[in-house]
Formats: sequence, structure tokens, C-alpha cells
Amino acid sequence: MDIIRFDDMESLSAHAAELVAEIARNAVTDREAFTLALAGGSTPVRMYEMLADADIAWDKGHIFFSDERCVKPDHDHSNFRMANEALLSRIEVPALRVHRIKAAGYAVGLDAGGYEFEIRNIFKYNNLDEDGAYPFDCILLGMGADGHTASLFPGSDALRTSGQLVTAVPEGVGDPPVARITMTLPLINMARNVVFMINGKKKNEILESIKADAEAAGRRFPAALVRPQGNLLWLAAS
Ligand code: 6PG
Repeated sequence: MDIIRFDDMESLSAHAAELVAEIARNAVTDREAFTLALAGGSTPVRMYEMLADADIAWDKGHIFFSDERCVKPDHDHSNFRMANEALLSRIEVPALRVHRIKAAGYAVGLDAGGYEFEIRNIFKYNNLDEDGAYPFDCILLGMGADGHTASLFPGSDALRTSGQLVTAVPEGVGDPPVARITMTLPLINMARNVVFMINGKKKNEILESIKADAEAAGRRFPAALVRPQGNLLWLAAS
């Protein structure tokens, strides 16, 4: 677990954008493709704007989402809408390479299963799966002030899925308290690189508790349960 601290979000975002671009370039060199999962929320917006100007072969990429709220893709609360405005609408990427979580909200379990099938299918079709694992080249994550990440909230059943790569989260938790679809910890922890982007006092306090005692923190904060087989990097602005 590495931590890099920044004075402000502008410098954190610039570093994160170049890091993701480097990961993507290396993946294309090694496997002629890269797989990237975008975080939701508001923290990544500036980084996505910078990523749109980075040197990346988007025609070799497959862009997924770590989680999505079950709202329409043009809704204010949609993670897809945020990423589309900041990044996707500003890059030359084939539409078939952008894998939006289609979460209509009335059959979230089916939506989750459908997204899991899409991940498995894309990895297998491009020979990117490895011994039954689906290792993303980079999964971007944020963290809430309660220590949630993606849509994995404290105490949620979604933390205890067995075998699922994607799962549904019922409405009533989180902000907004809508139903959600989320990558699970087993899938996140298969990643070659997981990069958290956080800012603010409360989130930095949680990061300090994870750094001090990840096991104890893991009993309180789902973000502390992210322990990928690859690299784990926390980018933190004060
Ligand atoms: C979501 C996000 C979530 C987000 C954190 C931090 O759908 O809510 O995926 O995990 O990353 O809540 O959100 P902010 O960046 O807005 O603080």
C-alpha cells in the first residue's frame, strides 16, 4: 500500500491522469489492450478532464465503471453522466468499448448479472482473463466519509458475496440512497492496479487508520478491504 500526498486536488488529478495513462500504455504494449474501471462521485472529475488530454490509445481500451446508481444515464446522480461530461464525450473511443452499467432500477439483480456477464465476456473474448480471474489493468476508486468505496457500504451484504464479480445494492443506503450496482471486493482485488483518490480531513483520517491497522480498519471501513493482488496506491489531498 503506497500513499502519495498532495497539497491540492489539481496536483493530485494531474498525477493520477499521468499514472493511468502510463498504466494504459504499458498494458497495450504487453497485451494490445487495457481495461480501466472509472470511479464515481465528484472527486475524479478534474482528473477525468485531464485524462481526456492524455496520450492514450483509447481504441485499445475497454472502459468500465466500478459502480453506478440505478438512475437514468442523464440523471444528475449518474456516475456515467459525470464521466461522460468530463471524459468520454471528449475522447475518440469506440462506443462498443464504453461499458456503461445499465441499471434501470427495477431489476437490479438482473442488471448486476448482466454487467458481470459483460465483464467476463470482454475479458474472455480479448484473452485477458487469467486462470478464472479478470484482472483489470486499473480500477479507480473513491471513498466516502463512512469508508465506503464503489457502492460497498459498511455492514452491507455486498461485502460478503461469494463468487460474484458484480452485485446489486438495495436502495436506502448511501447518498443518494438509491439502489446501486457495484463491483465486488473479489473483482476489485483481482486488479493489477487499484488507485484511490481522496481529499478532505475525514477521509485522510480514515486513510491513517487503514495505514495504522488495516485489519481493524477493515472491520469498520470497506475501503480497507481493498487489497489487490497488484499495486494499491492512495492519492490523498489534504
Ligand atoms: C458512488 C461512488 C462512491 C464515491 C465516494 C466518494 O457511486 O457514490 O462510486 O464510491 O467514490 O462516495 O464520492 P466523492 O468523490 O463525491 O466524495
